[in-house]
Amino acid sequence: MRILGIESSCDECAAAVVEDGRRVVSNVVATQIPFHAKYDGVVPEIASRKHVEWIDGVVARALAEAGMAADELDGVAVTSTPGLAGALLVGVQFAKAFAWSLGKPFIGVNHMLAHLWAPQLEADTPYPFLGLLVSGGHTLIVRVEGFDSVEVLGTTIDDAVGEAFDKVAKHYGLGYPGGLVIDRLARKGDPRAARFPFPKLDKGEHRYDVSYSGLKTAAIRQIDLFWNPEYPRTDENLAAAFEKAAIDLLLDRLMKAVEDTGIRRVVAGGGVAANSYLRSVMAAHRELDARFPPLSYCGDNGAMVAGLGYMMLARGDRSDLSLNASPRVPIYRRGKGGR
Ligand code: KG4
Ligand code: ZN
Repeated sequence: MRILGIESSCDECAAAVVEDGRRVVSNVVATQIPFHAKYDGVVPEIASRKHVEWIDGVVARALAEAGMAADELDGVAVTSTPGLAGALLVGVQFAKAFAWSLGKPFIGVNHMLAHLWAPQLEADTPYPFLGLLVSGGHTLIVRVEGFDSVEVLGTTIDDAVGEAFDKVAKHYGLGYPGGLVIDRLARKGDPRAARFPFPKLDKGEHRYDVSYSGLKTAAIRQIDLFWNPEYPRTDENLAAAFEKAAIDLLLDRLMKAVEDTGIRRVVAGGGVAANSYLRSVMAAHRELDARFPPLSYCGDNGAMVAGLGYMMLARGDRSDLSLNASPRVPIYRRGKGGR
């Protein structure tokens, strides 16, 4: 079965064709980064407008690169939650109209579950595994037992980790997207240049939770307090110290979850999973079976949507024309913890 997957929840306008949930036949991602860069962040109204302009062409290209006509598709999948409301709507409305005009089944999928399907694309990642989903909008440590069986162990109590990268980069005028720029600068800096506080909320039900608003404030407003005067105040040093603090916090919670659950296989996904420091530390942890989907499947893309859509369609799930976009995540079952 060949499924078309459409993704428009944020600033990537993407479409892909995937066969039987795993074989990526085509994967087209049109990024809007240049249009948001001058605002140092995603502007929802611009995102929606660009999706409207591009979606037709992006889908046409995904089909052309797959060497297929639309009526050869077996179904259409689209991200319907969570994300920016207006951006999601473009994909959802397009998918509905497209599937209806072809008389094909279609299905709305959850973006986070789609990220957790990414490690199955062109690969086989046996369940169970722990997922570390880290991006501009989400920060989740989850236990994954199957393509739609996910228990949230930990999350952020305030900002998402990518958001903290983006805000710090914006404040210091480092460039956009913040995470990518900080990653690049950090490679030339020394993380000992600042010593940021480590949030203490790892007790009880917050055992796997993280918090980024304190670190963000420390890095932006209280930098004099935490700077080590032995180091010059360069962008590179700031980036290295901030990056280390932000990523070490994630790793601390992740390692607790690994210890408590006994699950050693860990899959990272979302934009922040591209971070080179995160990757090198995870790969160096010998007790972990750390897996990183290729970068093209880590960020937002249509292939993960098509893959998850296949799994749902294959077991008989269908959406109908009343499908709506819902910007908020339907409440994830929050586990009692890994124990
Ligand atoms: O998954 P994604 O493309 O979009 C969503 O937010 O859903 O993730 C984008 C986020 C941004 O916050 C960006 O700054 C961050 O991922 N990011 C990074 C890196 N590349 C992108 N953060 C840290 N290191 C990177 N190399
Ligand atoms: Zn995402």
